[in-house]
Amino acid sequence: MADDIFKKLIAHSKEYGFVFQSSEIYDGLGAVYDYGQNGVELKNNIKKYWRDSMVKLHENVVGLDSAIFMHPTIWKASGHVDAFNDPLIDNKDSKKRYRADVLIEDALAKIEAKMDKEVTKAKKRFGDSFDEAQFRETNPRVLANQEKWNALHKRFSDALNNNDLNELKQIIIDQEVACPVSGSKNWTDVRQFNLMFSTEMGSTAEGANTIYLRPETAQGIFVNYLNVQKTGRLKLPFGIAQIGKAFRNEIVARQFIFRMREFEQMEMQFFVKPGTELDWFDKWRETRMSWHRALGFGDENYRFHEHEKLAHYANAAVDVEYKFPFGFKEVEGIHSRTDFDLNQHQEFSGKKIQYFDPELGKSYVPYVVETSIGVDRMFLQVMAASYCEEEVTSSNGKVDTRVVLKLPTPLAPIKLAVMPLVKKDGLPEKAREIIGDLKFDFNCAYDEKDSIGKRYRRMDALGTPFCVTVDHQTLEDNTVTIRHRDTMEQERVAIEALGGIVENATNFKALYAKLK
Ligand code: GAP
Repeated sequence: MADDIFKKLIAHSKEYGFVFQSSEIYDGLGAVYDYGQNGVELKNNIKKYWRDSMVKLHENVVGLDSAIFMHPTIWKASGHVDAFNDPLIDNKDSKKRYRADVLIEDALAKIEAKMDKEVTKAKKRFGDSFDEAQFRETNPRVLANQEKWNALHKRFSDALNNNDLNELKQIIIDQEVACPVSGSKNWTDVRQFNLMFSTEMGSTAEGANTIYLRPETAQGIFVNYLNVQKTGRLKLPFGIAQIGKAFRNEIVARQFIFRMREFEQMEMQFFVKPGTELDWFDKWRETRMSWHRALGFGDENYRFHEHEKLAHYANAAVDVEYKFPFGFKEVEGIHSRTDFDLNQHQEFSGKKIQYFDPELGKSYVPYVVETSIGVDRMFLQVMAASYCEEEVTSSNGKVDTRVVLKLPTPLAPIKLAVMPLVKKDGLPEKAREIIGDLKFDFNCAYDEKDSIGKRYRRMDALGTPFCVTVDHQTLEDNTVTIRHRDTMEQERVAIEALGGIVENATNFKALYAKLK
């Protein structure tokens, strides 16, 4: 069922110009996608929501746009050359390659699913009187599975923390994990695989340099720390935020735009006084959760996930997970990165990267709390949360299904569509006149093709909050009907009121007001 919805979402994204497979006419390029005419608008609105919430709403957070290509030593210093690896395992029969950690996470998810199934069954049986917490604490089948889950989880985190590749393989064997393609349990050893893409800069004759396509935007922020702090005369604590492309040679690239080889990140590094980083970590985790929840997709669909294994640079880390159709998955990471990165750059560059603290009268390397979210993953979250199929009864009594994207209105690619009822009698001209006035403030669409009902459906599928219909009465009294996407209700309003109605319902202010 969930699989079904996910497939529909992918088909919908293509059919309505949101997301296309890259290089499709050449049969595509794995895990690389292009955003179509509506996708790019939605994506830009998501970026605006993030950037405004960081830079506009925090007087101590500033922006940056650093280059994708950087000095190769940066990636030595950051640890990516040596440690940015995934543990891989191949199935000897299908020759398919998998991430060992993902196979084990799937095994854990299967146990979780068994527990959830018991809970769902009991919920149905007991109805309103059902106490889920008590059931989970007392039901023997749930308890047995919980014990299994705890034991596997502990073994898995120990193996990751100890970088024990043999143990990862042993867990896969003990869990009897089978290859989904061949069905066999005939596995190779687990090996580490570096995820960075590399290329050459300069001609070979001159001695070309191997450089990397950045696997995260964060390092561009670290190496600009001094530039920004000094030129902005910024005092700790302060943050630097940037949005940009990142590249990873993902081996298990699946689930559409969830895991891509070329993707976009929105990252913010918050520089703080050493010793205060865990307080700031707590503050940012709440701030970021509130940013997600403000979109109104249901608080129960989010959770925090504490990391099994801390990255080489972190002393605390948590993910914000969203309940996708394929289960709870990471959308954003919040890390307390200590002074690791700045220290490393100080050592590898030989340049002093310190902050003079006027209150303490001494210099030190600041600590960093990072928030890092994938634009594309956020896009998928927004699409998944907004996609609805509703049964509607038309005026002739026919029951029909309408597909509607209930996008948060500020994020909608098109804010209003203006439609002449018929393609004659001066109605198209009047519709274009309305767009002529409103297009400076809103993304408008003009649509005159097909019946008005079909046009409404098309706009529902794109998530357009308002459809405005121009009819013969419009020519007489300058009024139009305006139809609301979610309720499908229509009202007659004066043309001059349209701007105010659309502005009130679609501006970002209401969203920002909900943020903590
Ligand atoms: N600077 C820290 C960092 O990059 P990360 O957890 O590796 O941390 C942060 O990535 C976010 O970037 C993830 O939560 C996810 O939203 C997004 N992301 C990472 N890899 C991705 C991929 N291959 N495709 C799409 N989004 C990805």
